[in-house]
Amino acid sequence: MSRLLHRPLIALVVSGLLGINLIADEAPVSWFKEVNPIFKRSCNGCHNPNKLKGEVDTSTFAGLLKPGKHGPNFIAGQPDKSLLFQQVSGKEPEMPKEGDALTAGEAALIARWIQEGAHDDTPTNAYSTRVTELPVYATPPVISAMAFSPDGRYLAISGYHEVFLLDATNLVLVSRLLGEAPRIESVAFSPDSKSLAVSAGAPARFGEIQVWDVASGKESQAWKMGGDSLFGVSWSPDGSRLAFGGVDKSVRVLRVADGHEMLKFDNHGDWVFRTAWVAGGNRLLSASRDRAIKLIDVTSGQFIDDINKLLEPVLSMARHPKEEWAAYGGAEGGLRIYKAKENQERTDANNDVNQVRQFERQPGAVHTVAFSPDGSLLAAGGASAEVPVYKTSDGSRVATLKGHGGAVFAVAFSPSGDRILTGGFDGLVRVYDPSNGRLTAIFTPIRLDPTAGVVGK
Ligand code: HEC
Repeated sequence: MSRLLHRPLIALVVSGLLGINLIADEAPVSWFKEVNPIFKRSCNGCHNPNKLKGEVDTSTFAGLLKPGKHGPNFIAGQPDKSLLFQQVSGKEPEMPKEGDALTAGEAALIARWIQEGAHDDTPTNAYSTRVTELPVYATPPVISAMAFSPDGRYLAISGYHEVFLLDATNLVLVSRLLGEAPRIESVAFSPDSKSLAVSAGAPARFGEIQVWDVASGKESQAWKMGGDSLFGVSWSPDGSRLAFGGVDKSVRVLRVADGHEMLKFDNHGDWVFRTAWVAGGNRLLSASRDRAIKLIDVTSGQFIDDINKLLEPVLSMARHPKEEWAAYGGAEGGLRIYKAKENQERTDANNDVNQVRQFERQPGAVHTVAFSPDGSLLAAGGASAEVPVYKTSDGSRVATLKGHGGAVFAVAFSPSGDRILTGGFDGLVRVYDPSNGRLTAIFTPIRLDPTAGVVGK
């Protein structure tokens, strides 16, 4: 009722302001259908959860509701007192900072939306990337992650929007774990093999942690957080907590039972790709593109030390199964093992005091490193499409796994140590004998349908 009464007045105020005429009896302006698309085209490039210019997020209603650096973005009912309208109107509008100014009609629409109360009509699943049908693949999806369950029964392989769960013995597909996020970044089985944790994301939208019940193939938990992909999920030794990093440069620890955030660590200066638990679950290692592997006290959340000399972005890391050591894979081909402890004796000369071993330099970025179950071997996959396997004890090369059609992103030893699997850009899983590097099988985790649209790449 009151809206109807106010309508002519609004039209007068707004049209006076802009020198244009509004039709008095139009339907109310829709945030979702009319205003949001204007922002999407002209504003969200600088105002989104990952790029908060002026601390303003115009990408969602929830984002707009949060005040920017200079206060609230809008005051419902008062367009002329709302930054959002002020910034896009007038003779020389401040915003958008770059690109074409909004048309008078677009500015008027924003004003009218605010005047009408700035209502949110975002549909419940508006920003969901959930798919209702299982993906059909014309080409094998790029493999970004792969893991065996500790009991040796299952093998998890990343797909698009989903993780394939295979019987590890006969390599037959058992279930397809279809979640919301399109990009699967890492997979890890719980120490008791009953659950699978997945870190994933939708670029520039959200990150997601999923926990799946392995026996039933059902999702038991899923938490969305941050504005982009999450990486390197790892279980605490007692299986009660999950650690992971992300594009947002943070390291987080969640309690598996209820998703409670127990730790958020913001000392890294760049994307955090891997995490690993040491000291019986009391300390955490995090590896980042900022070149550091950081040691964190889990209880206090305090930074202890960088365990390594800062040489190159760290892309991959793996914990040694027995020793308090971590293997390190660098963006410039560095492959090393470090002690997971404080770097106290470091001097200005900057000797790399925690380094246990340095392997031959790899010809390209090292995307993945994996120890054999007994820790005697270290395999490194990366840009070079060949996967060398080294003896941990003296750094000598024992095998070279060949035949990949592109970069390798995932390497996994079977828990008995008799097989080593690789996966990567070409979407094929290759099975090798670690003792001599002989290729024994090649397969795709899912049957392909050449008539389908390409969703794999
Ligand atoms: C090319 C980047 C860019 C684009 C595109 C852009 N902005 Fe901005 N915006 C900025 C920057 C930078 C600031 C911070 C200015 C400052 O702090 O002084 C800002 C600040 C703001 C503010 C806060 C102003 C204040 O005084 O605190 C609002 C509101 C805003 N922008 C809205 C918009 C809207 C609406 C659009 C689209 C029509 C838009 N911006 C497009 C870069 C951009």
